[in-house]
Amino acid sequence: MVKEDVLALGAESVIFKLERWNQAFVLKSRQAKPYLLEEIDSLLRKTRTARECRTLIIARTLGVRTPAVYSVDLNNYTILMDFIEGTQFKLLAEKLPERQLTRLCFKFGESIAYLHEGEVVHGDPTTSNVIVDNQQRLWLIDFGLSEMNATVEMKGVDLHLIRRALETTHWDRQESMLNATIEGYVAVLGDGAEGPLSRMNEIRERGRYH
Ligand SMILES: Nc1ncnc2c1ncn2[C@@H]1O[C@H](COP(=O)(O)OP(=O)(O)O)[C@@H](O)[C@H]1O
Ligand SMILES: [Mg+2]
Repeated sequence: MVKEDVLALGAESVIFKLERWNQAFVLKSRQAKPYLLEEIDSLLRKTRTARECRTLIIARTLGVRTPAVYSVDLNNYTILMDFIEGTQFKLLAEKLPERQLTRLCFKFGESIAYLHEGEVVHGDPTTSNVIVDNQQRLWLIDFGLSEMNATVEMKGVDLHLIRRALETTHWDRQESMLNATIEGYVAVLGDGAEGPLSRMNEIRERGRYH
């Protein structure tokens, strides 16, 4: 593989773009962290690769768009999946007029709600981990920290992470973005949104006083 194939360098992974049979794929490869003990590092990479693969697939059954997975190699910590043609939501958000932005945030909230409805939490629900295609559809990626059998507390944490990500990445538009995201979340879950949302606020208060 040559350097030109590298699409992105994440905190813990290298993303390669490959073209075969006129189709584009992504190979996500989790790299060793030199400052971690070898056994711990390999266990972490294996767990996260397995988790990511599993949740990419489960999310689809819950109505959330994710890249199709073709293979997973737990010994090399790699996943081969579809390349999603589009733009990182994080980058797109900076350029969009208010109305389009809130429409996408609403969809983001819906997607997170579909996961939560299926007792799944994303674990790293930032706007870097959402791709928007040219039909304004959202694709969720980066499920290495996701978990199943999620409790209300875990869902609250997921929502808290969204709020924090919006505060740090989109500070100038965080309020309208968060409101639209919550609207989408509530539109899917109805009364079921109350528990996770009040937990989100509680977590913020806990953070303030500790
Ligand atoms: N399937 C994919 N299709 C298109 N771009 C992708 C895909 N997977 C990852 N990317 C790009 O690579 C970046 C890093 O991938 P990600 O899975 O988030 O890795 P990390 O865990 O290192 O953050 C993403 O923000 C996105 O821009
Ligand atoms: Mg990421």
